[in-house]
Amino acid sequence: MDRFPLAGHTVGRVGYGAMQLPGPGVFGPPRDRAEALAVLRRVVELGIDHIDTSQYYGPDVANELIRDALHPYPADLAIVSKVGARRDDTGAWLPWDDPADLRQGIEDNLACLRVEQLAAVNLRLLDEKEPPGQRFDDQLGAMVEARDAGLIAGIGLSNITVEHLRRARQQTEIACVQNPYNLLDRSSDPVLAECTAAGIAFVPFFPLGSGFNPQNPVLNNDTVRAAAERLGIGAAQVVLAWTLTVAPNVLLIPGTSSVAHLEENTAVRDVELPADVVAELNALA
Ligand SMILES: NC(=O)c1ccc[n+]([C@@H]2O[C@H](COP(=O)([O-])OP(=O)(O)OC[C@H]3O[C@@H](n4cnc5c(N)ncnc54)[C@H](OP(=O)(O)O)[C@@H]3O)[C@@H](O)[C@H]2O)c1
Repeated sequence: MDRFPLAGHTVGRVGYGAMQLPGPGVFGPPRDRAEALAVLRRVVELGIDHIDTSQYYGPDVANELIRDALHPYPADLAIVSKVGARRDDTGAWLPWDDPADLRQGIEDNLACLRVEQLAAVNLRLLDEKEPPGQRFDDQLGAMVEARDAGLIAGIGLSNITVEHLRRARQQTEIACVQNPYNLLDRSSDPVLAECTAAGIAFVPFFPLGSGFNPQNPVLNNDTVRAAAERLGIGAAQVVLAWTLTVAPNVLLIPGTSSVAHLEENTAVRDVELPADVVAELNALA
């Protein structure tokens, strides 16, 4: 299956994550604005119909670039954002997750992107270890109100446990879940399994091992590199193709600031890994 439902849309399983577009540390303007705009235009040319972003990427920078490159947007483009944090003047990531903050965060995304509605917005928890209780219910209530008001088509949850997902689903419909997940970090397998059983899109973040660690143990893993050499493809393609094998509800949003990497990542649509390679990669977890 190369497409999967996402809050009223059906999107290709290979999307794009905009977090690498702002400057270093996801803070400030891009190193190369022309390249950042070119990446976004190429996203649409390649037929990608799912972009993940946030107002706090930059802050503002990622959404302004998306707007400047792509507005008015293709009708079938699902733009998904997240709320629950903000940045200070030094670039620190701070919680901004009271119900009124979440509503303001959604409205800031809409205003900056110049849209009436977003396909989905994730309630991004900063501390997934805090068990879900009244505070979580109140936050979810703000998301439900935003959906009822037509500001978002679907509610997503990010950085959550199975307990958050179960509690949320007792209260409302959940369109997508976005948790860290890759070849070497499968700690969200229980959340993924719950999503798969419920037909909810699971959107791994850090699918390539993240841009925060220059050593990148995922892309530099020996088994990944050997498979890439044997198959004549890039290490990122091995990693992304493997991620697509994990479950049909997995939607990729690899992040990149480069047109060449975007093209390489998107070409994974046509990569099918041999069963023995998948088995080797599965054994890495
Ligand atoms: N919900 C959340 O809390 C949360 C948290 C983090 C991220 N996200 C979302 O998830 C998306 C993906 O995560 P991410 O961007 O942080 O990390 P990622 O996709 O795991 O990795 C991005 C890193 O990989 C590099 N890269 C991309 N394609 C490559 C290729 N073909 N070959 C070699 N290197 C490549 C990028 O560098 P270049 O720029 O040089 O290509 C960047 O350093 C984000 O863009 C964001 O939309 C969500």
